[in-house]
Amino acid sequence: MRRAVCPGSFDPVTQGHLDIIGRAARLYDEVIVAVLINKTKQSLFTVAERIEMLGEATAHYGNVTVDSFHGLLVDWCREHDVPAIVKGLRAVSDFDYELQMAQMNHSLAGVETLFMTTNPLYSFLSSSLVKEVATYGGDVAHLVPESALAPLLRRLEERRDPS
Ligand code: PNS
Repeated sequence: MRRAVCPGSFDPVTQGHLDIIGRAARLYDEVIVAVLINKTKQSLFTVAERIEMLGEATAHYGNVTVDSFHGLLVDWCREHDVPAIVKGLRAVSDFDYELQMAQMNHSLAGVETLFMTTNPLYSFLSSSLVKEVATYGGDVAHLVPESALAPLLRRLEERRDPS
């Protein structure tokens, strides 16, 4: 049984994330998407909301599940017996930090990191840019799955008009 984790903040999940998750799901028997619980970082969605959006967007794969974690990713990997992390690389600018994390995770626990080159269709895409564009009324319908679009527009509307 080959298992891998796709970790991230997913605030919210984008088509870029889903592209990597879907390709990982073809290479591994089981893929677990792990949402980081980071109480120090301000997020637009709660972890439960992010898990729900990811669950809906990955349901059709059959071998993808969604979980959350706090603390070190390698501790979660050890607890769940997952030997590999799959990450997407969008550009050279991602590489320095990702390389550092991959080497640290390997030195801490022997966990391997596999990098996948992002589909060029999504190489410009990030959750933060999606939020920024949507905040100012830009169309992001092609950049996030259906499960994230309505919650995103609703949450931004609530923030604009808290009543
Ligand atoms: O979507 P993001 O925010 O770019 O994902 C980053 C994430 C969650 C993969 C990374 O920050 C992480 O693994 N955090 C967990 C804490 C940890 O293990 N830190 C040591 C990394 S070497």
